[in-house]
Amino acid sequence: MNALTENVSLSTDLDMSNYWMPFTANKQFKAAPRLLTGAKGMYYTTHDNRQIIDGCAGLWCVNAGHGREEIIEAVHKQMTEMDYAPSFQMGHPLAFEAASKVAEIMPAGLDRIFFANSGSEAVDTALKIALAYHRARGEGQRTRLIGRERGYNGVGFGGISVGGISPNRKAFSGNLLPSVDHLPHTFNLEHAAYSKGQPAWGEHLADELERIVALHDASTIAAVIVEPVAGSTGVLIPPQGYLKRLRDICTKYGILLIFDEVITGFGRLGKATASEYFGVTPDMITMAKAINNAAIPMSAVAANHQVHDTIINAGPGNAIELFHGYTYSAHPAAAAACIATQNIYRKEGLFERANKLAPKFETEIHKLRGEPHVKDIRNLGLMGAVELNSRDGAPGTRAYEVFVKCYQKGLMARFTGDILAFSPPLIVNEGQIEEIFSIVKAALHETA
Ligand SMILES: Cc1ncc(COP(=O)(O)O)c(C=O)c1O
Repeated sequence: MNALTENVSLSTDLDMSNYWMPFTANKQFKAAPRLLTGAKGMYYTTHDNRQIIDGCAGLWCVNAGHGREEIIEAVHKQMTEMDYAPSFQMGHPLAFEAASKVAEIMPAGLDRIFFANSGSEAVDTALKIALAYHRARGEGQRTRLIGRERGYNGVGFGGISVGGISPNRKAFSGNLLPSVDHLPHTFNLEHAAYSKGQPAWGEHLADELERIVALHDASTIAAVIVEPVAGSTGVLIPPQGYLKRLRDICTKYGILLIFDEVITGFGRLGKATASEYFGVTPDMITMAKAINNAAIPMSAVAANHQVHDTIINAGPGNAIELFHGYTYSAHPAAAAACIATQNIYRKEGLFERANKLAPKFETEIHKLRGEPHVKDIRNLGLMGAVELNSRDGAPGTRAYEVFVKCYQKGLMARFTGDILAFSPPLIVNEGQIEEIFSIVKAALHETA
């Protein structure tokens, strides 16, 4: 056994052959598994019965911390009363209540809520709404969708088409959506390395949208979709002024702007949404994950009145307006978890808490500057990334090793390529922020 496989002894004879794991190096994982068996508050329990601090809120989603009794009780109560209700041509009260709760904290006007079950579904839903909207207003030729390089918008065909991550697209490239273009990403090491918060450089990159409009003509473009902060490709913070400029260009040409807030929604930046944080209001917001603390799969699209009403009022009153939806849209258990989660956020002031803790998070993550292999550090709110120099000819291996060492030392981190990403639950305290980054520091020192 080498250093990377030393704590893998499983106490049970778990058959690992059947489960095909998502976004995982299956062979590597199964040779040296890392299993989580319990979770409470800020900590996971591992299969070898260690407590490890959750530096990532699961997958950017357990914002209220693990094992919240209020959510468990709400789900249990709902499952006891009614396990499931059809979502087409029927409703149940919690679906409406959950929509109202979410609408309350969306930017003004974005209060029409369509439920789905994952971020990927929310993205594909928003893209379809954009097409349906333009068609309903008599501009059905607006079919082109503009995403961004290094964007992650889930794994549906819509999401990978507008997304900008090469490996997510390569195997499927023969059949991505045909009418798509991409903005350049906003990351620039030369101009923005070690920026604290929003880099001052890069607003002009939004003008690339003007170039794309000139190429295709605005009359063919339905929507632009971007993550306000690109999470999955390593926490790429938007340059100052960039999002506002995108908004202005979209408005000028009648193009819908969609913010994919699957990660940034529900307090990650210290406000309910990144839209609120940046003071830029899109036409639609996609959200998932922390919408119900990830207790039960759930996602949503918030649309503004113009988008919603144009579609809803296009046909006769007895016709389905949007031929789209999911069996589990607003599933009763997910809706119950959503309401309980939103109540926790409000009662405990968790978004404000994140806002207050952001400077401490910034200080601690930037202390890693100068440590072995560190090439860049970036942060906003309670999300941040530490980018490492890659090994020659073996990109990704160094961050993977740091990630495994962190796990062995008591931290669940996250890595993508050679970037380590951090996004603790919003209940984290100052001491725990220090704990997270001191483990990272130790792991960096032990990694070649
Ligand atoms: C911005 C963004 N959009 C969409 C998704 C996809 O969400 P899901 O994995 O729930 O489909 C993610 C997942 O991390 C995301 O970060």
